[in-house]
Amino acid sequence: MSDLITITDAAKRFVKGRETISIFDKLNLTIEAGDFIAIMGPSGSGKTTLLNLLGGIDRPTDGAISFDGARVDKLTESQLSAWRAANIGFIFQFYNLMPMLNAARNVELPLLLTGLSAKERARRVQAALKIVGLDQRASHLPREMSGGQQQRVAIARAIVADPKMLLCDEPTGDLDRKTADEILGMLQLLNREMGKTIIMVTHDAEAARYANRVLHLDKGRFVEQGAMA
Ligand SMILES: Nc1ncnc2c1ncn2[C@@H]1O[C@H](COP(=O)(O)OP(=O)(O)OP(=O)(O)O)[C@@H](O)[C@H]1O
Ligand SMILES: [Mg+2]
Repeated sequence: MSDLITITDAAKRFVKGRETISIFDKLNLTIEAGDFIAIMGPSGSGKTTLLNLLGGIDRPTDGAISFDGARVDKLTESQLSAWRAANIGFIFQFYNLMPMLNAARNVELPLLLTGLSAKERARRVQAALKIVGLDQRASHLPREMSGGQQQRVAIARAIVADPKMLLCDEPTGDLDRKTADEILGMLQLLNREMGKTIIMVTHDAEAARYANRVLHLDKGRFVEQGAMA
């Protein structure tokens, strides 16, 4: 497999008043295209911060982040949003759906930034909803769906623009075991059948078993917990 992402000697510090909080210093990580990585670690260890760096929501204080050979940390804000829209899908613990929009409208959101016609957008939305098994629910509002269904809508939204990489922050943190396993099975399918590279933060060792690699983030460093698949 080829390298999709390399993080080289990345540092992240937050300045709060007179205090500087250092989250990482000289963090290194290589992610191969097609990998499925679980990231575990104590609360406050910097897992969400790392996903934000990987997804171009935030920038490293020092060091480099490359995606497909190009320096993401060097992009301007507008280049970064375009890059993010084309390459990254985000999935969150609490789904982050727009409550007033039905499933189809929620899934369509990332496509509104593209130049696609309404007809083509509708076609892609329907295809994404079909992949997650919710094509019959297109006109339902989030509050009319279960947590698991809402997360499937969020997955459809994350894949609708056909990004290379999915970043998932505790995607099953709010779901029961059975529903969590359905969602995790779906992520595994997207990884294996559609070649999506997946980085998933989780506190759940059962969830981490769906990944090929588990990394443990502790005190700003990675400790590999052993390969699975
Ligand atoms: N914008 C910010 N400004 C200041 N400090 C921040 C900011 N974002 C995160 N931090 C700090 O960085 C540290 C890591 O936060 P982060 O959210 O990445 O942890 P986490 O590993 O995702 O934790 P959890 O498992 O609870 O979600 C925390 O100490 C947090 O307070
Ligand atoms: Mg977090």
